[in-house]
Amino acid sequence: MANTPKVRKCLFPAAGYGTRFLPATKAMPKEMLPIVNKPLIQYGVEEALEAGITQIGFIVGRGKRAIADHFDTSYELEHQIKGTSKEKYLDDIREVIDKCDFLLMRQREMLGLGHAILTGEPMIGNEAFAVVLADDLCAAPTEKDDMRALGQLAKLYQRYQCSIIAIEEVPMEDTASYGIISGELIADGIYQVHDMVEKPKPENAPSNMAIIGRYILTPEIFSYLRKTKPGANGEIQITDALKLMAKEHQVLAVKFKGRRFDCGSVEGFIEATNYYYENVYKN
Ligand code: G1P
Repeated sequence: MANTPKVRKCLFPAAGYGTRFLPATKAMPKEMLPIVNKPLIQYGVEEALEAGITQIGFIVGRGKRAIADHFDTSYELEHQIKGTSKEKYLDDIREVIDKCDFLLMRQREMLGLGHAILTGEPMIGNEAFAVVLADDLCAAPTEKDDMRALGQLAKLYQRYQCSIIAIEEVPMEDTASYGIISGELIADGIYQVHDMVEKPKPENAPSNMAIIGRYILTPEIFSYLRKTKPGANGEIQITDALKLMAKEHQVLAVKFKGRRFDCGSVEGFIEATNYYYENVYKN
């Protein structure tokens, strides 16, 4: 179809301190922590590129300049490495730099994920866009032809043209670490969202279906974000804005294919490192 709307832009909120990884994150952004030889945020940008997205917006806080430098050409390095056997190590990063455009915005106050996304509004304008939280690392599904989580969402967006979020079942005792949804199953693995709660205790959770850091949002989300009051942790939560939106618009939640690692926790980070070393790096 010639007029099928396409998602072209992706926001990467990257303003958090990464306190769980101190002291490693004292002078280095947590998004630059490597899984084997590649920073977390590069995996996220590669996933966006795979989904057909080439306009990348970083929402950063102070002390995140390394992210801007990483997605820029390093002339000294290029000069040193040119024509040597080490050049291949730059293939992946050169590809994303060549194919994508990068914009950076500073979030001056840390008022939560919803606030970070609202900060990105000038980069988005009036079109649907993606959001990737880089510390959720989504590996490629084992079926060869399938894209990673964001590509799966972007494909569904072409069909449903509404906001779509990625979900995964988690143990009931872990609900307080996630946004949790409830909804009605409308197709294989696809739910129409009725309710969502940010970080509920297990006894208050409407289900065990947790939001994972991959979203496609229609631009109406910005007006809901403006209406959203501080919620869990006193922060403006995207989950609360989506809940308001779901009352007036279709919001879908999708069980995506492929493994997800919570690289915001040390345990998940180590699991991801072992997995990528065995299944990606060595191949
Ligand atoms: C954020 C969202 C939460 C979601 C989670 C996924 O929380 O607010 O709804 O389930 O990401 O990783 P955070 O982990 O940033 O506290």
